[in-house]
Amino acid sequence: MIPFIDLKTQQKKIRSKIDERIKNVLDHGQYILGPEVKELEKQLGVFSNSKYVLCCSSGTDALLLALIGLKLKQGEGVIVPAFTFASSAEVMPLLGAIPVFVDVDPNTFNIDCDNLIDALNTATQSGVKVKGIMPVGLFGQPSDMDKVKKFAENHGLWVLDDAAQSFGSTFNGKSVGSLCEVTATSFFPAKPLGCYGDGGALFTNNHEIYEIANSCHVHGMGKKRYEYERIGMNARMSTIQAAILLEKLAIFPSELKQRQTVANYYNLHLKKLELDIQLPTLHAEATSSWAQYTIVLPKTINRDKLQKDLSSQGIPTAVYYPIPLNEHEPYKNYPVANNELPITKLLSKSVISLPMHPYLSEDDIIFITKNINEMIINN
Ligand SMILES: Cc1ncc(COP(=O)(O)O)c(C=O)c1O
Repeated sequence: MIPFIDLKTQQKKIRSKIDERIKNVLDHGQYILGPEVKELEKQLGVFSNSKYVLCCSSGTDALLLALIGLKLKQGEGVIVPAFTFASSAEVMPLLGAIPVFVDVDPNTFNIDCDNLIDALNTATQSGVKVKGIMPVGLFGQPSDMDKVKKFAENHGLWVLDDAAQSFGSTFNGKSVGSLCEVTATSFFPAKPLGCYGDGGALFTNNHEIYEIANSCHVHGMGKKRYEYERIGMNARMSTIQAAILLEKLAIFPSELKQRQTVANYYNLHLKKLELDIQLPTLHAEATSSWAQYTIVLPKTINRDKLQKDLSSQGIPTAVYYPIPLNEHEPYKNYPVANNELPITKLLSKSVISLPMHPYLSEDDIIFITKNINEMIINN
């Protein structure tokens, strides 16, 4: 069986260093907000060229803290793609705010900047005042930040990048984390940079956003202990997760290169097959962290059958995501740009993600693509 994501090989490589890091935490005993959390924030700031980094309990909490830092209020709207994971949108209603769903680009699968004006107009017609945009780097590459930011500037909106999947990627040579007002990422174990539990981080150059998020992630704390300035939550990162992440971050740059090599192998061997499938397209100004390698199948292929057939040969696949967010019951009544998201609908029925991690060899890719070929021909 080829692992869809291979955390074991990575762990073998750095196990002794991780053991040492965990031992240090057990020795000093500061399990919450210990020195490793501060060290990690510092290193992530250097890595992403971001002034303020706040490590926290998950990617979802990083998004929520970012929205609190941006002072999003009840009834206000945020434009977000419907082709994403629930976390991107669920944090808005938690604050009484409103997700405004927008379509995605058929090539990058990220926010469709030409659809932003429709999302804004639909929201306005529904009486929703839009305050910001949340692009999502869904499969590893950032959204077209030039276009997103230009639109945001023209309409007085802020931008919060959901980089749960795209941390480690770049746009115009700049790292994710430094591309807009505020960025959130996830360190869920399966992410390109993952810990061994839940974890996340927020990145910003804006001191006020950082201050509010920092206070809120420890119950709205003020300057002194047990002095509260605002209503907050518990969204702290545990020190052991920070210790693990420090060792994972040390090998992250080389793993990103390996992920690119794996993507190149896929591109090469899938192109050779001359099948009617759409391969991932990178924006000209973007690099990807290759959280997923996702292809689009033609209508004629039965995706469920293909998944079963590949699984029977030891090749796991996944579908991110089979149902657009706006079609799920809790999200059904929120505004949808032009009341339809044709690309989101199409992709939800036709995308499939193949095994992707830094430790896949060219032989693995040849095996996977050969099987895809046989199964598509016989599908
Ligand atoms: C696009 C996106 N946003 C946000 C999240 C939330 O991250 P977490 O699971 O760390 O809360 C995820 C996690 O899968 C995600 O894929």
